[in-house]
Amino acid sequence: MATEFQGPQRELLDAPDRDHPPGARPVLAYREEDEPEYLAGLDARARQKIQLQRRGTWHGELVELRADQAPALSRPREALLDERWHRARPILLPGLLEHDTAWPGQAQERLALFDSLQRPEGLAEFISNRPTEDPPHWRPTGSLPLHDPSRDIACLGLETNPGNGVWVKSGHLSTFDKDRSLRVRFSAGREGSNDANRDLRSHRQVQSLAQQLLPEVRTIESTPALIEPLENWIDGPVFFTQHIGYWNAPGGGALMHHDAFREPLEGGQRGVVYVQLAGRTAWMALSIEDLSRRVIEFVEYMQEGELAWVREELFPDLETFQWLERMVARFGRVRKELGKPGCGRLGPLVGRGPEFTSLLADAGHTYILEPGDGIVLPNQGLECTCMHSVFCASPGPTYGVSMAVREAQPAVSAQEPAPSKPARGHSGPRRKRRRR
Ligand SMILES: [Fe+2]
Repeated sequence: MATEFQGPQRELLDAPDRDHPPGARPVLAYREEDEPEYLAGLDARARQKIQLQRRGTWHGELVELRADQAPALSRPREALLDERWHRARPILLPGLLEHDTAWPGQAQERLALFDSLQRPEGLAEFISNRPTEDPPHWRPTGSLPLHDPSRDIACLGLETNPGNGVWVKSGHLSTFDKDRSLRVRFSAGREGSNDANRDLRSHRQVQSLAQQLLPEVRTIESTPALIEPLENWIDGPVFFTQHIGYWNAPGGGALMHHDAFREPLEGGQRGVVYVQLAGRTAWMALSIEDLSRRVIEFVEYMQEGELAWVREELFPDLETFQWLERMVARFGRVRKELGKPGCGRLGPLVGRGPEFTSLLADAGHTYILEPGDGIVLPNQGLECTCMHSVFCASPGPTYGVSMAVREAQPAVSAQEPAPSKPARGHSGPRRKRRRR
């Protein structure tokens, strides 16, 4: 077995501002034209190598190192995780489902839906094929209008009793022709304007349907290694809602975004949990504060005259670049811009590959999720939320589920009016030593 790095790789891994989530296997970016000794050092300690391509853009190559290459923890794991929760930094839960045996088979059943769900009738077929012996008994109420016809494929209403309605929709993740990535989303009420509603009863209905149609959800939601820390961080019982099944396919994935709403913290959405169930995905995940710092770092490289080709493509005229320079002089403005849908005017920079993506990887913000691994994306409000983007890291379609975390007994009344318009965002150089 190769020993620990001594050279430049060690420098990158031990950089004081590199993120080190406990339990995460370290990831670095590399290029084929890197020095042969550097590449050989990576190879000797590599767990796997992954190429990143999303929606027609090349995002570079990653090497995931063996877990024993991670720096030692500076403090007890629990204390570090607690701090990460409150600072909205991602929390990795590798091997979250390792003690359960039912989900691999369920994940394969779900993977087999990838082609049929591409068709509008595929969603109804999936629902009608699910066993319904267990109560509550859901009754289809018919098709609903598509919220986003450019991406949505089908939307169906279901209810247990009149007035207890929820909906399920299938849709693509993007409008990019070659991206066949899918999602199946469970929710209630009017899509968009009602996404942040605080009606616990309707959230429980959504949860109930998701558990029935996707039984793997029940396994995840009853895993002590997930529930116990969440309830410690939130200081009270939690439950899960707004479930989404994801089929990330090669060349697809999600652009950098957050899942926060403009709402009071207590009684609101406290975070999102994603669990990989088949295939693997690569994640860029970091707090909005850390992403703001990385954007400023990237712009500083351009101010120093580096990355001339990136500046030329993203900010070809002087006026736009001067706007960018004024913005990065004000940290709060950068953070505010990143909180806008699509990361606002910073979207093209944040989505820039491979330069910005590689910078994020070398700064410790990249993770490869294998089947059974989980990631928690904490949310303490728009200014303290976990930003994330996803790539498919398998040669075929993958499957995983996400769910929003809510307090089961919030101190704030559930009758409080729904918050105003939700602010969901949608949808790189290397660190100093390695930029070119
Ligand atoms: Fe998300």
